[in-house]
Amino acid sequence: MKITRFYLSIIALPAILNCTAQKKVAPLLPVLKDVFWNDFSVGTALSALQIEGRDHKADSLVKKQFNVLTPENSMKSMFLQPEWGKFDFRIGDRLTDYAAKNNMQVVGHTLIWHSQLPAYAQTIRSKDSLQAFFNNHIRTVAAHYDKKVLGWDVVNEALNEDGTMRPSIFQRLLGDDFVTEAFRLAQEASPNSELYYNDYNNEQPAKRAGAIRLIKKIQGAGVRIDGVGIQGHWHIGKVPFDDIEKSILEYSALGIKVMFTELDIEVLPRNFTGAEVNQRMRNTNDTALNPYTAGLPDSVQKQLADDYAQLFRLFLKHRDKISRITFWGVNDGQSWLNGWPVPGRTNYPLLFDRNYQPKPAYYAVIATKQQ
Ligand code: G3I
Repeated sequence: MKITRFYLSIIALPAILNCTAQKKVAPLLPVLKDVFWNDFSVGTALSALQIEGRDHKADSLVKKQFNVLTPENSMKSMFLQPEWGKFDFRIGDRLTDYAAKNNMQVVGHTLIWHSQLPAYAQTIRSKDSLQAFFNNHIRTVAAHYDKKVLGWDVVNEALNEDGTMRPSIFQRLLGDDFVTEAFRLAQEASPNSELYYNDYNNEQPAKRAGAIRLIKKIQGAGVRIDGVGIQGHWHIGKVPFDDIEKSILEYSALGIKVMFTELDIEVLPRNFTGAEVNQRMRNTNDTALNPYTAGLPDSVQKQLADDYAQLFRLFLKHRDKISRITFWGVNDGQSWLNGWPVPGRTNYPLLFDRNYQPKPAYYAVIATKQQ
């Protein structure tokens, strides 16, 4: 059944490409989740609007193309526990119900992150209070979604670029061991979910070494960790393929799954790498920073497609070590990169355009299975 769906997609590809080029009939698109069915799951992040079912075009695309969903924001602590001790599971539950109904899985994002904390948690100054928030949040949320999510990004972005521990509110008040403790609590409350450490730039050598130390520490404490998420917020023409390959090999040598959890390839000018949400660019009124408001030039479109193709060739080479590839958004219009690190730009980082139509990058990714 799985194999048949896959081969139908591949066999139909030339005809599909031809139809698309001539715009004669509505094309029958190959399907990402089927094409890569035997390799890894293919996911997308959903906005709250999409989870609430208010983006119908996204809805039909998502049901068709993807088999695993991550809430872009809705399961972060500021939304799940907006008031101390009061949990709001409505949107998260809607997502897990939707996924179950449509034969998809959900990855919870994220139990412990220093960013997007509820306002009351940001002002906590005592170790005891933060420990109480930390324990109760993980226990309550992880238990609520046990058996309903495939896995959790248990801790997000605990490292500095040099691989040392980031001085977040959790590290400062609870100490470096907060990461291991988060995994211990999550494992107790949610024995049926996979547990992941997730970060950006953790394919880079120093940060990767820090992540490996962290993972070994968790394992050394006898606590379960099932996977590592490399977010994959990269830039056109500068995707670090060698470091990505080294990372796949080094992380999987620890006996854990490797996944690419927030994939997008930015096409606009930027003077730094990564996804540190507090980092911004200056001179935001400079129109040179927003060059493609009228559309993406063919040459850039092609470079984007080439980068995605090279990336997926690498993913396929290591398909035995990679469990999931998740794009950070359904289409270009939704991407967080339209608003960061410069507000109000027109970015093109994903496989589907603002009209929910597949881009050359989409076909290039599909075609990697034919090579
Ligand atoms: O909730 C408020 C809403 O009340 C208000 O009306 C609206 C007005 O702007 O803002 C809403 O908050 C926004 C929030 O997303 C929820 O929609 C914030 O402004 C906006 O900054 C925030 O951005 C998110 C960002 O995380 C925050 O750190 C992005 O959508 C989301 O894509 C991004 O995702 C992160 C991952 O979780 C972790 N890795 C990096 C990645 C990219 O930053």
